[in-house]
Amino acid sequence: SDPVAAAPQRSFVLLKPDAVRRGLVGAILSRFESRGLKIVAMDLRYVDGDLADQHYAEHVERDFYPPLRTFVTSGPSVAVLLEGDQVIEVVRTMNGATDARKAAPGTIRGDWALSNRENLVHGSDSAESAAREIALWFPDFA
Ligand code: PPS
Repeated sequence: SDPVAAAPQRSFVLLKPDAVRRGLVGAILSRFESRGLKIVAMDLRYVDGDLADQHYAEHVERDFYPPLRTFVTSGPSVAVLLEGDQVIEVVRTMNGATDARKAAPGTIRGDWALSNRENLVHGSDSAESAAREIALWFPDFA
């Protein structure tokens, strides 16, 4: 073992309602697992407006937020706590660009989505966001 290796990092990942509706949960999780990331906790969630507002606290005033709120509360999502070396950056690379129309082939969005809103997955964008989101979604693991 490497004594200077960084402690494993954790990221919060949300498989949004389009992923569940389209039956892509298994395929998406399979990519993360195959990459070597570890599922630490996972839960099918019916996200309500309150949870959506807390999760997207930095976006609630944006023009795009009302339809995003409607979308993310439109059906069950799968909340996942992933762990691994540099997992935050690795997940964001695997997810692809937020606007799926610009996401590279080989990424989750670039292979399976074509929308800025219905883009299948959310991944924490920084260590600070991960800590905040893990406290919100998986308080037992915070
Ligand atoms: S920004 O504009 O840089 O603050 O956006 P970002 O932090 O990358 O992510 C914004 C989240 O809102 C969702 N969303 C949209 N973003 C931009 N424009 C439009 N029209 C829009 N509609 C929805 C976007 O999918 C991001 O969701 P998450 O769950 O964070 O990936």
